Amino acid sequence: MNEGGPNRQAAIAKYRKAASSYDARARLYRRYGRMAVACLDLRPGDRVVDVACGTGANLQHLVKRVGAGGQVIGVDLSPDMLNVARDRSQRHGWANVVLVAAAIEEAELPVGLDAALFSLTHDVLQSKRAVENVVRHLRPGARVASFGAKQPKGIGRPLGMVVRRVADRYVTTFDGFDLPWLQLEAYVQNLTVRELLMGCGYLAWGSLPVESHTTLELSK
Ligand SMILES: C[S@@+](CC[C@H](N)C(=O)[O-])C[C@H]1O[C@@H](n2cnc3c(N)ncnc32)[C@H](O)[C@@H]1O
Repeated sequence: MNEGGPNRQAAIAKYRKAASSYDARARLYRRYGRMAVACLDLRPGDRVVDVACGTGANLQHLVKRVGAGGQVIGVDLSPDMLNVARDRSQRHGWANVVLVAAAIEEAELPVGLDAALFSLTHDVLQSKRAVENVVRHLRPGARVASFGAKQPKGIGRPLGMVVRRVADRYVTTFDGFDLPWLQLEAYVQNLTVRELLMGCGYLAWGSLPVESHTTLELSK
């Protein structure tokens, strides 16, 4: 586990091993993915980025909501996870899904996107450059939603070790595990955070301010 923040090479290695069994292992969390997608309040014709889309497990819900006139852009740095997503997309014949093999920190995206989904993306949320690059490509007022695991407190505290053991398969840092959404708060207005599963998980959503991003403090 990396003490100094997320480690992309370690993530690629982790997901090389995890890709083939990922969908089966992560199926219990899919309902939360659907909840996060619902929080995006997508409309037909919208363009949405599925940040660190992995095997594309959320694609079908996004595609359904944006319709044939919309677009879903999935970005992931793991070639192994993205291969599963590509198979899935081809199998379904989704003409409006674009899959991009890149680290989200440097991904080239269309500008003016309507929404961004961060589903089970702890590493990405701990990278200031990653969050900034997504925000930079969103339109003013765009919707953002995230769900994932977190360190439980209060009644769920005894479950903390178990949550970390499970999350350890998928993250390269536990930095920010108390409040994984914190970097989003800098950009997302009125970020609403709801705890899930006795505080072992969270769902967070909100929108960018409607005024132009030039007023946001994005690094150059
Ligand atoms: C737990 S999986 C989540 C996949 C998918 N979003 C889901 O809900 O099932 C985390 C994904 O983040 C990807 N990832 C990690 N760091 C990344 C980065 N900097 N840029 C793009 N993808 C990244 C990994 O390759 C992996 O596919």
